[in-house]
Amino acid sequence: MSAALTAPELPAETARRRTFAIIAHPDAGKTTLTEKLLLYAGMIRTAGMVKNRKTGRMATSDWMAMEQERGISITASAMQFEYKGCIINVLDTPGHQDFSEDTYRTLTAADSAIMVLDASKGVETQTRKLFAACKLRGVPVLTFINKCDLPGRDPLELMTEVEEVLGIQASAMNWPVGSGKEFRGVVDRRTGDLLAFRRTAAGGAQRAELERVPLSAARAGEILGPELAAKLRTDLEMLQIAGNEFTREDFLAGRITPVFFGSALTNFGIEPFYDAFVELAPSPSARQATRLDGTAVTIDPLTAPFSAYAFKIQANMDPRHRDSLAFVRIVSGRFERDLVVKHYHRGEFVRELRLSRPQTMVARDRTTLDVAYPGDVVGLVNAGFAIGDTILAQAGPAKDGFEHAPLPQFPPEVFARIQPADLTKRKSFDKGMLQLASEGAVQVLRSWDNPTGDPFIAAVGRLQFEVLVYRLRDEYGVETELSELPFQCSAWLVGDVETFKPTHGSMLARDHRGKPVVLFPGEWDKRYCAGQNPQHSFRDIL
Ligand code: G4P
Repeated sequence: MSAALTAPELPAETARRRTFAIIAHPDAGKTTLTEKLLLYAGMIRTAGMVKNRKTGRMATSDWMAMEQERGISITASAMQFEYKGCIINVLDTPGHQDFSEDTYRTLTAADSAIMVLDASKGVETQTRKLFAACKLRGVPVLTFINKCDLPGRDPLELMTEVEEVLGIQASAMNWPVGSGKEFRGVVDRRTGDLLAFRRTAAGGAQRAELERVPLSAARAGEILGPELAAKLRTDLEMLQIAGNEFTREDFLAGRITPVFFGSALTNFGIEPFYDAFVELAPSPSARQATRLDGTAVTIDPLTAPFSAYAFKIQANMDPRHRDSLAFVRIVSGRFERDLVVKHYHRGEFVRELRLSRPQTMVARDRTTLDVAYPGDVVGLVNAGFAIGDTILAQAGPAKDGFEHAPLPQFPPEVFARIQPADLTKRKSFDKGMLQLASEGAVQVLRSWDNPTGDPFIAAVGRLQFEVLVYRLRDEYGVETELSELPFQCSAWLVGDVETFKPTHGSMLARDHRGKPVVLFPGEWDKRYCAGQNPQHSFRDIL
């Protein structure tokens, strides 16, 4: 009997899971919005304490205190807690200067995403990139337009920008009434109620006080005043005529994004937003996988045996332990301690192993986890996994197993040449590069014409280079020399390599699978090169 069938609570536990990531440009309010979810979930009593504003990082001690007090489980990769009967898994998508391939990969573990926009800025660069990664995989995205308590851009203009820049239909679920100091609340378009907010002495530290009145009621007129009421009427009429109709089916298919307005700092519109989120966002559903013979198979979270894949590896997180943690996302079945699983790597069975030390990381102190369900993230210590590996608790021969779809690679934006400073250290250097490349720390490219020469490294963010240099020194005892290369973008080449004509400033390389990649000084050069090679095409993301 499969492990899944022995767990009668599996359907209900799976149905109440919401595993999501927040995508945002730095400063749009991702941290504040996350914190407010904790506030409304009753996990913290006061908001405004979890982030060290100077470093821009969560204050570890605060997280630890919260964890101990309220039973929030925090890993370096996800945070889990309960909100109104649902189990929420918030995946951590590193932003700011930590933006890297990890950020993208984490999105593959999410079933939905919340996109936070700053009402005065609209769609910014990092949001655009992250949204593109969601779109690629058809991840449903909810939009939260934040900072409505500050003077911002016209809401209709923001909706149009979402549609035009991101190529997705937008449908307003609520509508802001006034902006800046005059921000009075939002109208819930489904019920036609005005949700009026009252500013309290506690500001955003405590839950917002909210008054719900039908728009047609005299009280609504009192709250709004004649001017705001007239503007609101016009806006709502316009939305009625020109707006997109929202259907959950279109949302789940990634065709439409429901848009909510609010202010995370003052808590205006937060609770209605999160209530709508748990209602609309999908629970873990079936995913496509591949059998070892290459045929496709659909993995249902409830009927398939336990399976999961590694989407992030973090080594040497704790200097006292000197170890590596693989974060796996459960796709199907019930996870429990001491489960015996088969481990698959790039289409091949590797070994069978017992998961005796599954862990969730709680700040720096670890707690051991006993059971988990589809959608959950589990940290496995020193398990020898590479990014993208699958584990599977299926009885029978290993050849009958399957692998979850490989994680996509994302186009690097920074490039460098790297070599050991001391050439006698080449052996350790090669060993370190091999290991770190398999962890996905950086992508390793070689010259097309000289594949045995020094490697080039490519990454989404510069921080990945710094980490690489540090780890080669710290873990492999190798000092390196790194020189950045004048490329800004790259693409996989589709077509005959022999007849490809590189243009001035571009370079042909091969990736770790031997596939041809072209590096360009900029987007303009890439377009020019495409024009010069009409028999070839470029593919950004595999
Ligand atoms: P991030 O994680 O996306 O980078 O953004 P974060 O939540 O840290 O918010 C960035 C800044 O924007 C913070 O201000 C935060 O207080 C502010 N902010 C977030 N949401 C809102 C909102 O709804 N309204 C207003 N007015 N501000 C908001 P800061 O100056 O960096 O920190 P602090 O001085 O407020 O502590």
